[in-house]
Amino acid sequence: MPAFSPLNRKTIALIGLMGVGKSSIGRRLASALAMPFTDADAEIEAAAGRSITDIFEEFGEAAFRAGERRVIARLLEAPPHVLATGGGAFDDEETRRLIADKAISVWLKADLAVLAKRVGRRDTRPLLAGKDPLAVLEAQAQARYESFAGADIIIETGETAHSVAVDAIIKALAARAAAQA
Ligand code: S3P
Repeated sequence: MPAFSPLNRKTIALIGLMGVGKSSIGRRLASALAMPFTDADAEIEAAAGRSITDIFEEFGEAAFRAGERRVIARLLEAPPHVLATGGGAFDDEETRRLIADKAISVWLKADLAVLAKRVGRRDTRPLLAGKDPLAVLEAQAQARYESFAGADIIIETGETAHSVAVDAIIKALAARAAAQA
């Protein structure tokens, strides 16, 4: 991808539930589009000097959400990059508005059973601690999918390789750029 292409002139914000691959697909997408990559969760951890689990434990979810809102607002001011957001970010009205204003949003969507299987393998997510992953994801889908449906681009992922999702995103970005040209 050339350094200047119609596809890499605006930040691309990846949204979607836990386990859908926002960070790993985001990294690959960034490299394919010759853009920097930023992970909002990692930036929140760096800003707080603590892991997400510790932020939830010490300060609670509301404080985490406030931090998430601030960090994403700051990242959206940076030059165009691929931004992987945390699963709840796009459910926040202010964040949604800022992303709509400054970025192209891409909802990575996958079957909840596939996500449950994936997130069950890791224990770094406080919202899953001691809970049935599928039940948590079903409740999140219920609460968040209406917001997620407002994304600029929706990509059905699944159990396919991340490169397939990256190709689908690039195709959708190209179609969008062509439609706007
Ligand atoms: C959350 C998802 C996590 C992280 C936090 C809360 C959520 O990010 O932001 O644990 O509310 O869905 P990932 O989607 O990257 O796991």
